Amino acid sequence: MTSILQCIDCKEQYPIDRVMYTCEACGGLLDVVHDMDYLRHTVSRELFDQRLGTLEPPYNSGVWRYKELIYPDVEARTIISRPEGNTNLYPVPRLAEWVGVKTLFLKHEGENPTGSFKDRGMTGGLTQARVLGMKRVACASTGNTSASLASYAALGGLEGVVFFQDKQIALGKLAQSVAYGATGIQVSADFDRNLELVREVATKLGIYVLNSVNPFRLEGQKSIIFEMIQQFRWKTPDWIVVPGGNLGNSSAFGKALSELYELKLIDRIPRVAIIQAEGANPLYRSFVKEFEEFEPMHAETLATAIKIGNPVNYAKAVRTIHLTDGMVEQVSDQEILDAKALIDRQGIGCEPASACSLVGTKKLVEKGIIKPHETVVGILTGHILKDPDVVLKYHSGTLADIKAAYPNKLHQSEPSADAIRNILENTGTQ
Ligand code: F0G
Repeated sequence: MTSILQCIDCKEQYPIDRVMYTCEACGGLLDVVHDMDYLRHTVSRELFDQRLGTLEPPYNSGVWRYKELIYPDVEARTIISRPEGNTNLYPVPRLAEWVGVKTLFLKHEGENPTGSFKDRGMTGGLTQARVLGMKRVACASTGNTSASLASYAALGGLEGVVFFQDKQIALGKLAQSVAYGATGIQVSADFDRNLELVREVATKLGIYVLNSVNPFRLEGQKSIIFEMIQQFRWKTPDWIVVPGGNLGNSSAFGKALSELYELKLIDRIPRVAIIQAEGANPLYRSFVKEFEEFEPMHAETLATAIKIGNPVNYAKAVRTIHLTDGMVEQVSDQEILDAKALIDRQGIGCEPASACSLVGTKKLVEKGIIKPHETVVGILTGHILKDPDVVLKYHSGTLADIKAAYPNKLHQSEPSADAIRNILENTGTQ
């Protein structure tokens, strides 16, 4: 039943315990491929349902509950888990009305231990680092991957090394990486250049790379789909809508859905829509040309998590779009921030990039692609506290080129009951 590494292009296979990220024969991306015949006789909806609510590690994790589908052979004591996952699926009727569908849910991956979906991948990646006997792990990051790596490396007793741009890293993310004690290196280069650098340095120094080019990261991130579908009592929504940056999540989603379908745990495959920021939209540009060409670009967006111009998982994301009859859409920073303000006002909240899921859904409904009667799940990828700076600037109207459609006023008062009463009487909130 041993799993293997397999090139997605030429299908060349490699043993699971090799330190490698791309195919030696053709340079293609690698998948972790499991023995599906073995799994067919091993996994069932009942097995995963029985584990719900258990206190026993590793099955108390929303990733390792599905261990057979993530990394069947790994020994439980090797696993590095906080535990992660078990995130909420919120029904949001007011937002459903705003986007124009009857049924909308938001699955909040910002509820993971370090505040983003990256933890689901990092438990897979750090566990593999331990299997391989690596001592140091590294990533380039727009901020969330580094926060997650720093936490999981510390937990597992490995050294974490994180590269990020010397500007535009959201404050919450930078603070986390520093606090968890990773070796942080700010480089005067964007994410795409930092990712090249991390791969070069890691090869030279024998460090294990934990960006989403690492296929064990994506095995963990498949659990977003497993958990969502289990939360729906093994029924499938019509659409799953997700922001796209380095395209790890969207790649993992396609693999997860194809495996669930092959194992007959679901009886149809939902459509996946990937939403990019207009200033960081290389997948969208390629999609409108029917994927005939792909051109990396210089990326700029206020949704700094997805400020990525050369996504490493491009080929796997295209595979997801083909498998699921999916869509790619783009949204402006103005649309992202207004949608974020609405998600925040529900009392749920998210970081800017996450709001692509909501406003991307609205756009696809307006274009008649998502139908009003269809059930949609939007993925919120990061926590509201990751980027407090953007929140305060949006609501105070101090973001360049953005005019807040949904501002909340922060009042100032002198210290007297009369002055405060005056404010409260004028706001109409009692
Ligand atoms: N949303 C958030 C909050 C993210 O942090 C990221 C990626 C994405 C969406 C895009 O996901 O790369 O799987 O398409 N952040 C990475 C980082 C790149 O370094 O933290 P993707």
